[in-house]
Amino acid sequence: MNKKIITKSEKETFDFSKKYAKNLRGGEIIGLLGNLGAGKTVFTKGLARGLGITHNISSPTFVIMKVYPVKIKSIKRLCHIDAYRLTGENDLAAIGAQEYFGDKNTITIIEWPEKIKKILPEKTKFIEIEHLNENERVVKY
Ligand SMILES: Nc1ncnc2c1ncn2[C@@H]1O[C@H](COP(=O)(O)OP(=O)(O)OP(=O)(O)O)[C@@H](O)[C@H]1O
Ligand SMILES: [Mg+2]
Repeated sequence: MNKKIITKSEKETFDFSKKYAKNLRGGEIIGLLGNLGAGKTVFTKGLARGLGITHNISSPTFVIMKVYPVKIKSIKRLCHIDAYRLTGENDLAAIGAQEYFGDKNTITIIEWPEKIKKILPEKTKFIEIEHLNENERVVKY
């Protein structure tokens, strides 16, 4: 997290993460830090689009984890986790999320990674979205 950009709209965040996705190779785990409404789901949607996913990405708050197929290079799937409602690491273990963490063909993106600190792999890359005002965000990556 030593670079940052300021986005001035939802679309700019979406477009940024869409471009960011082009650097992914498979096996990455991304922890998205930021308050409620910061733009974590917007970021995830752009990233998914950058991976060629045309599915509507909804916030999986009630589902906790969703997996979307990807067909580019060695990337086979995007695993989107929203840990907001998790109280511990056990729920996530129960739904088999850890299976994806070590997989070299999977990109895992996690909203509220701080809720599952204990099981987050060492190699997790963090991105932080900070709310500046109604339409501006700082994205640190
Ligand atoms: N520059 C911006 N980048 C991203 N979103 C923005 C920006 N400006 C305004 N917004 C608005 O902020 C909201 C971000 O919502 P989003 O669901 O992505 O947040 P979140 O971080 O996932 O929240 P939660 O913790 O509830 O899951 C959207 O309503 C979006 O339109
Ligand atoms: Mg969200």
